[in-house]
Amino acid sequence: MKHLLSIHDLTVDEVQNILKLAEKLKYEQKNGIQHHLLKGKTLGMIFTKSSTRTRVSFEVGMYQLGGYPLFLSSNDIQLGRGETIYDTANVLSRYVDGIMIRTFKHSDVEDLAKYGSVPVINGLTDLLHPCQALADLLTVYEHKSKLEGLKMAYIGDGNNVAHSLLYGCAKVGMDIAVATPKGYECNAEIVENAKNDAKLTGCNITITNDPVEAISNADVVYTDTWVSMGQEAQKEERIKIFKPYQVNKELFAKAKQDAIFLHCLPAYRGFEVTEDIIDGPQSVIFDEAENRLHAQKAVMVLLMQD
Ligand code: CP
Ligand code: NVA
Repeated sequence: MKHLLSIHDLTVDEVQNILKLAEKLKYEQKNGIQHHLLKGKTLGMIFTKSSTRTRVSFEVGMYQLGGYPLFLSSNDIQLGRGETIYDTANVLSRYVDGIMIRTFKHSDVEDLAKYGSVPVINGLTDLLHPCQALADLLTVYEHKSKLEGLKMAYIGDGNNVAHSLLYGCAKVGMDIAVATPKGYECNAEIVENAKNDAKLTGCNITITNDPVEAISNADVVYTDTWVSMGQEAQKEERIKIFKPYQVNKELFAKAKQDAIFLHCLPAYRGFEVTEDIIDGPQSVIFDEAENRLHAQKAVMVLLMQD
C-alpha cells in the first residue's frame, strides 16, 4: 500500500489490516496506552474545500501518533493562486512525510501521488471519499460484530460517499443496495469495478431508483447530503428531486428491526433524513464520526511508518 486514493486500489487483506489496526489503536487510545508510531513525521494537509471531521481527525490523529500535522488551506498556499500540482507535489515531498488532500478533481489527487514521492491520502474528492468508508466499515463492525453477509442500503445521491461505500462493501463482502433518483445514479465505471470486486468476496451489488427496494431487509441504512460541496447552485432543484428519497420513519421501518443508521455528516435534518431517525436510538452517527480518527490513524501508520 503506497497511497490511499481509492479503496478499489486496496486488496481485501489491506482493507482488513486497516480495520484491525484501527481497532487496536482505538483500544490503546481509550486505555491511555501511548503509540507514537509516527514520531518525528510530518503530514501536510491540503484543503481546497471546507471540513470539520477530516481536518480535526487528521490533525489530532497525527498528534496522537507523535507526529506533526500542517494545515494548508488553498486560500493560503500558492496552489490556490495557480501553482501547479506538479510543482506542489515535488516541493512538499522535500518537506513532509505524507500528504492528505481534500479537493474537487479526483485527477488532481492522482497527479499529486504521481509526481510526489511521499504517500498521498485522499481526504475527499468529487468522486471518492475512502477515509469515510473505512470509518463506516469499522463502525458497522463494532455494532454488528461482522461485515460479511450484512446488507447496507444507501439512499440518496450517487456521490463520492456512495462510490466509496460501493468499493468498501465489495471488498469486505457486504451486500450493498444504492437507490438514487434517475439521473443521479453512481458513476457507471465505479459500479462496474465494485461488481468485479464483489465477485471475489461473494456479495451482491444492487443499483436501483426505488428506495423501498434498496432498504428492504437492510442491516445498515446510510444517507448523505443531497447537495455536495460545489453543487450549491443546484440546491433548489435537488431538494425537489430528492424528496422521495428522504430517510424518515416510514422508509426506515422497512429496514431490519435492528438496523443502524449512518450518515457521514454534515447532515441537513428535514432534508435527507428526519430528526427522529438521525437523533433516534438506532443512529450511530457520532461513533461513526469518532471512527474517522481511528481508521485514519491506521491508514497513516500503514503508509508512513518506517
Ligand atoms: N464526513 C466528513 O468528511 O466531514 P467533513 O466535511 O467535516 O470533513
Ligand atoms: N458528499 C458530501 C460529503 C461531505 C463530507 C460532499 O462532497 O460535500
